[in-house]
Amino acid sequence: MTRARILGTGLAVPDRVVTNDELAGIMDTSDEWIRTRTGIRERRWVREGETGAELAHTATTRALDMAGFRASDLDAIVYATSTPDHFAPGNGVFLQRRLGAATIPAIDIRTQCAGFVYALSVADGWIRSGLFRHVLVIGAEVQSTALDVSSRGRNTAVIFADGAGAAVLGPGPDDGSGLLAFDLHSDGHHAEKLWVDSPGSMYHPRITAEHLKQGRHFLAMDGKEVFRHAVARMPESVRAVLVKIGCTLDDLNLLVPHQANLRISEMMQRELGLDGERVYNNIDRYGNTTAATIPIALDECVRGGRVRPGDLIVVTAFGSGFLWGSAAIRW
Ligand code: COA
Repeated sequence: MTRARILGTGLAVPDRVVTNDELAGIMDTSDEWIRTRTGIRERRWVREGETGAELAHTATTRALDMAGFRASDLDAIVYATSTPDHFAPGNGVFLQRRLGAATIPAIDIRTQCAGFVYALSVADGWIRSGLFRHVLVIGAEVQSTALDVSSRGRNTAVIFADGAGAAVLGPGPDDGSGLLAFDLHSDGHHAEKLWVDSPGSMYHPRITAEHLKQGRHFLAMDGKEVFRHAVARMPESVRAVLVKIGCTLDDLNLLVPHQANLRISEMMQRELGLDGERVYNNIDRYGNTTAATIPIALDECVRGGRVRPGDLIVVTAFGSGFLWGSAAIRW
């Protein structure tokens, strides 16, 4: 059976580093509060005019280089983002244009923090079915422009950040490697617990002066509820995807969790009984970049030698929606 395989990865983050102390200078927070509650030391935010599609383009160039491909070798783009540069069209086409790729299909996936896992599953289906051969999968976000950087927004402003990760996928050899299984879920009962209310097509006009005054265009989060569900759903999903491939936690070489909050990752690690060596975290340097956390982490793992051929890796994510899920990958 043809399996999809990750042939190259790449990451790109803005060069503007925003430290906790810098945030403490503009809102009522402190480096100590942020570090102990979230594990974040610094994050990257775009400069004025820098876009998500630009970051995705840089990440893609690096992933293509690793795969030994050119943009003309791509057959499709799956672009996961909850923060497109514009309301419409999605960022897939802006990336297609930047790459100078042929008129290949480009779709956006809007499943927020779970975006990259969902996008991988779409690419996997396309490759397995033979519909497309080489698929570019992106997880990229510019969250900083949706953050309320006054004290009113401090519970989200200190967490979310910008960045992009890319993976080039293609059919792999018939040796058991590649994307093995997915476990995907949603529960819309919690849609308003982590969301951006406005602009929205249910409003006419889509954003009003009142919305702006009330801050309804900012990312809003019920942190405690998100935390409570995340620490239950991600471990549950990791176990479920392992069951699907007939493996156990003992077989797992590396868990790459969505970088929501270091405390969430650490609770999941304890719940699954994994040692620290088998869980990858980099939230201290990048914050929570939503759909980009997993491909950024994967790229660091690949380039840093944390994954070797034959390793079993699980990536898992939980976030806005609520949407969550995992993918099992034999490297
Ligand atoms: N700096 C200082 N104080 C802050 C703060 C900040 N950046 N953000 C919130 N606080 C304050 C609150 O106002 C509150 O003050 P009060 O007790 O005087 O009302 C106090 O800290 C506790 O707030 P609370 O929201 O109960 O804190 P918490 O212990 O739940 O931690 C989070 C807040 C956001 C760190 C935590 O809820 C969390 O990590 N949730 C998950 C978030 C997440 O992972 N989101 C991404 C999912 S994809």
